[in-house]
Amino acid sequence: MTNIIQQLQETTAFLQQIYPHHPETGIVLGSGLGNFAAQIEVEKEIPYEEVPHFPVSTVDGHHGRLIFGQIAGKRIVAMAGRFHFYEGYSAEQVAYPIRVMRSLGIKQLLISNAAGGVNPSFKVGDLMVITDHISFAIVNPLLGPNYAELGPRFPDMSEPYNKEMVQRIKTIASGLKIDIKEGVYFGVTGPTFETRAEYKMIHLVGADAVGMSTVQEVITAIHAGLTVAAISVITDLGIREEENVITHQEVLEAAKAAEPRLTAIFTELVRSF
Ligand code: HPA
Repeated sequence: MTNIIQQLQETTAFLQQIYPHHPETGIVLGSGLGNFAAQIEVEKEIPYEEVPHFPVSTVDGHHGRLIFGQIAGKRIVAMAGRFHFYEGYSAEQVAYPIRVMRSLGIKQLLISNAAGGVNPSFKVGDLMVITDHISFAIVNPLLGPNYAELGPRFPDMSEPYNKEMVQRIKTIASGLKIDIKEGVYFGVTGPTFETRAEYKMIHLVGADAVGMSTVQEVITAIHAGLTVAAISVITDLGIREEENVITHQEVLEAAKAAEPRLTAIFTELVRSF
């Protein structure tokens, strides 16, 4: 038996012992978006440190725990805090919790993140449902030997963000009278925010927002056969002409302000499954 398969079996067995149900939906809560957890009827919570083979999250604004419970009577597992490549985790470590959630039985994965807007019509605080991504200098988490148990060698990426989900999110947002943009997410490694020239390039190549997470998770989820939906909170604007210093603090504050809207949409989306 290969190491990763064995590790996944151990992690899954451990978690199933703690929470002997099958969550149908996995949720990844991005920077400053951890309070979504308040919507969950929590049944079990476990800090990442206590999960065998899990990496441990370190960044400000990340709580670092797995939450098992229900939203609108549907069983979910949520990651409050995620693992970023820029923290020094390998692409495979970033992928690991996604594989664990799949192994626990999830069918769909909902992802949130904070992102910098490069579409000139965006404002700080906007929500953007992701329709596609561009992976830029991101280490692909599927590099290396492929294990058929985890997915195919050459996964198709023609529709990583499920079109029906995008539509459903737009309909839900409209029903809740929440304005939501849609667009292409440009994935970078960070941890630097982009230079002016980079923000400009990102806009020119056809992206609407840029961020330091999500892409490796989505690739892993598609490999695993999951249905994926993702929403970015636009926390800063990369193409402002004037003074344009971006701080982590400002990103967290903007994410916090947008959180109730994101939470309302995710809650209704889970209810719709
Ligand atoms: N760039 C990259 N990642 C980000 C940004 C940004 O401007 N804002 C939030 N995450």
